[in-house]
Amino acid sequence: MRHFIGIHDLGFARANKILARALEMKQNKYRSRLLEGKVIALIFEKASTRTRVSFDVGVRQLGGSTILLTPAESQLGRAEPLRDTARVLSRYCDGLVVRTFGQAKLEELMAFGSIPVINALTDEGHPCQVLSDLLTIYERTPDFSKLRVSWIGDGHNMARSWMEAAIYYPFELFMACPKGYEPDSAYVDACGKAGARIFLCNDPRLGIAGAHYVNTDVWASMGQEEEQLERVKAFKDFCVDEELMALARPDAKFLHCLPAHRGEEVSEAVFESENSLVFDEAENRLHMQKALMEWVFSGD
Ligand code: CP
Ligand code: NVA
Repeated sequence: MRHFIGIHDLGFARANKILARALEMKQNKYRSRLLEGKVIALIFEKASTRTRVSFDVGVRQLGGSTILLTPAESQLGRAEPLRDTARVLSRYCDGLVVRTFGQAKLEELMAFGSIPVINALTDEGHPCQVLSDLLTIYERTPDFSKLRVSWIGDGHNMARSWMEAAIYYPFELFMACPKGYEPDSAYVDACGKAGARIFLCNDPRLGIAGAHYVNTDVWASMGQEEEQLERVKAFKDFCVDEELMALARPDAKFLHCLPAHRGEEVSEAVFESENSLVFDEAENRLHMQKALMEWVFSGD
């Protein structure tokens, strides 16, 4: 049985193939009966538009159906232990797509359940999103070896998945995070030792210099809403605006997982510019979810 918790689950061989497979699915408007008769539970402990809908539509396009569980409308919100939920859902459903807080919750679902678990975002990573972002790059510049990708902002879940991606795909990752908001140094070291080319600094001007693709994310992620005010102060020099973008390559493209806060991490002008790929990225969520589910459920 396969789970998809992070890009490491794919390994090098499949990481190389999954972008081409997702692109093929996009070009062919791919449909199949792979999930016919199967029911996938979508467990969302945090809000979602793109991830939830792209998984829901993706499952249907592969012939299956879904059930959405949120804390408000299930016993999850009344503290039923996850280990019990995992064992119950394994008797009804064929897979779990889970958005939650700590990654340990996914581990508990995997340990006690007996069906595949797919990571739809945790505090530690958002691998489905980063693979979709890589698909957005791949369809324009398939040779990653000469690419510089910049990460400007919080060293949180998205940044961590970008670091993991840099192990499996040969781009350079330049990261600029405010002091105190860098990714965990042990994780940076581990990715570096595994082969990722990561350069970490606190200066967004240095972090964006010469980038082909520039990435950012909200300053306060889900679960950090109470830190919003202090984060606005700490991140004040980290708005990706036209002045900052001018330090990247002249044809540099802008990426954002969405939802975006215009006037905070990105200016309206950059967000709406012709170099902004944000809606192609959002579309690619659907194609990548199908490629991932094919890998998880076909055993292929
Ligand atoms: N990018 C992303 O995961 O969006 P949602 O929170 O809308 O799912
Ligand atoms: N870092 C953001 C990503 C949202 C898709 C969050 O976790 O809220």
